[in-house]
This record gives sequence, C-alpha cells and structure tokens, in this order.
Amino acid sequence: MGRIFVTRGLPGDALSDLADRHEVVINETDEPVGHERLLEEAKRSDALIVLLSDPVDEAVVRSGVKCIATFAVGYDNIDIDAARRHGVAVCNTPDVLTDATADLAFGLLLSAARRIPESEVFLREGKFDGWAPSLFLGMPVAGRVLGVVGAGRIGRAMMMRGRGFGMDVRYCDEGAMPDEEAVAARKQDLDSLLAESDFVSLHVPLTPTTRHMIDARRLALMKQTAVLVNTARGPVVDEAALAEALESGRLFSAGLDVFEEEPKIHPKLMELSNVVMTPHTGSATVTARGRMAELCCGAVDTVLSGGVPPNSVVPP
Ligand code: DGY
Repeated sequence: MGRIFVTRGLPGDALSDLADRHEVVINETDEPVGHERLLEEAKRSDALIVLLSDPVDEAVVRSGVKCIATFAVGYDNIDIDAARRHGVAVCNTPDVLTDATADLAFGLLLSAARRIPESEVFLREGKFDGWAPSLFLGMPVAGRVLGVVGAGRIGRAMMMRGRGFGMDVRYCDEGAMPDEEAVAARKQDLDSLLAESDFVSLHVPLTPTTRHMIDARRLALMKQTAVLVNTARGPVVDEAALAEALESGRLFSAGLDVFEEEPKIHPKLMELSNVVMTPHTGSATVTARGRMAELCCGAVDTVLSGGVPPNSVVPP
C-alpha cells in the first residue's frame, strides 16, 4: 500500500482498480497541476503518474518518490539522468499507442496532401457551386516517396501504412531496423531523404540531438511539392522556419499534431490554410488511452510491490 499522486484523471478503470490497493490522489481539475503542487504532492507520495505536459525536474525526482510513470511513450519532460542518479524508477507506455499514432500520422499525411480540411471548410461555408476541373488540386500519394525519420515502433508502423498505399518507402535512423524486409524500406541519410521525399514523417524522440533537427536549412532541402508530417514532438521542428516555408510556398503543406510551445501555436500557422493541425491526439483512441492507463497503474503497483515493470525506462 502506498500513496500515488496522479496529475490528471485518466480514461478507463485502471485508476479505480489501483485505488483498491493504494491511496490514489488525483488532481481532479482540468488545469495542469503546476510545479509547486506537483513537488508538494511528490514529497507526500510513493509514486507519481504524470502527463507529458508535466515538467518533472530534479527537485520532483528527488522528493522521495520511488516511481514516476508517465502517461506517454515519450519521456522528454522527465529529468532521466536525475532519476538514474537518485534511483527513482521511470516507466512509460510503449507499444499500446503505436497503431493509433501511426494512423493519425497517415491521416494527417492524406489530409495535407488532398487538402481535406480546407475543402471541407469551403463546402460548409456554402462556396461549393459545382464540380470544377481545378478545384482543390492536391498531391498524389501512390507511387510517391515516403521518407520516415526515426525507425522505432511508430516509424515502422508508418512505413507499413506507406507500403499499403503503394508508396516508395525510405527511412533514416541511427540504428539498424530489425524488420527491414517486412517493410521493404531503403535507408538513407537525413539530408538526401529530405531532398528525395514527397512526404516526410517525423518519428524521433525529443533529445538535445533532435531539437530543431528540421530547421530552415533542412526545410530548404525539401521539394517544393513536399508535405511534412510531425506527430513526434514539436521542438523537433523549428516552427518559425516551417511557418515561413509554408507561407512562402517553399513547401506544399504540413500535417502537425505537436507544437514547439504546446499548447501555444505559432500565430502564422494559425493563419495558413496549407497546414492541417490536431491537438496532440496521436494516441487518442479509446483502446490506446485505456491501455496506457493500465500500463502506468500496473508499473506503479509493480514497483511499490518490489518488482520490475517491463515498461521501465529507468528500472527500479
Ligand atoms: C506520447 O505518448 O509520447 C504521445 O505523444 C502521446 O500521445
């Protein structure tokens, strides 16, 4: 039995099941918990379940908690080095959101290529006055090059979708891809991948190396007819440079689920019709979010019972 502080209510029954065995305290507001309260709660708790939007710095890490589970696969909001130094377990939610996130990435790709949201607004505004040969011309998908940056689980799921749509799939990754045969993709370095792709989809974690990986120089390498999709982390792209490239027509369009200063969106992006945006909903399916909650609760329960969860980023 331990005290677990949860920074926001989670979908499904996992938290109420956890409350059968532990004292579970949930921030019941719809507001982010804030650093001061997080630190105060951490000092009184054995474990924390946090969101990707909760910054977990060294002060929180060394507050005395044994485990921090994050309701996300990405853990760039947590000071992982501090967790290692202070022997605090960190757990995340891999696998269960792979398909959901790849589906949204491919949905953004199709939406941005075929201008679906823009043409829907046109129709709803009553502007559709008859079929026209050049109405909302977009970019074709089949036969075009899909460049996937980052060949982890979600990147590989995106490659499978690209193959299903008849695309020529390429990828860029530091490591070797285990099932290269299965997705039949060709490995390229980042700059040539950007230059040769018709669609570029980002699937790398946010690290000091990937921050602004797609900057003005790299955007300038891309084809003028290309589409950029980002469902990874906002700061992987220099958002001001992207807005500039989209505004000037240097890039055809973009599909974005993540933003550099979430939930703030670059004002220029808000004005452009050639960008499709969703509010960081990559993993937002009933199934994925329910399973993410189960993974977080299971991890905390396992650590507090002296075990090692399979989904440990930093094992206890
Ligand atoms: C993650 O898990 O890192 C995603 O961004 C959440 O949707």
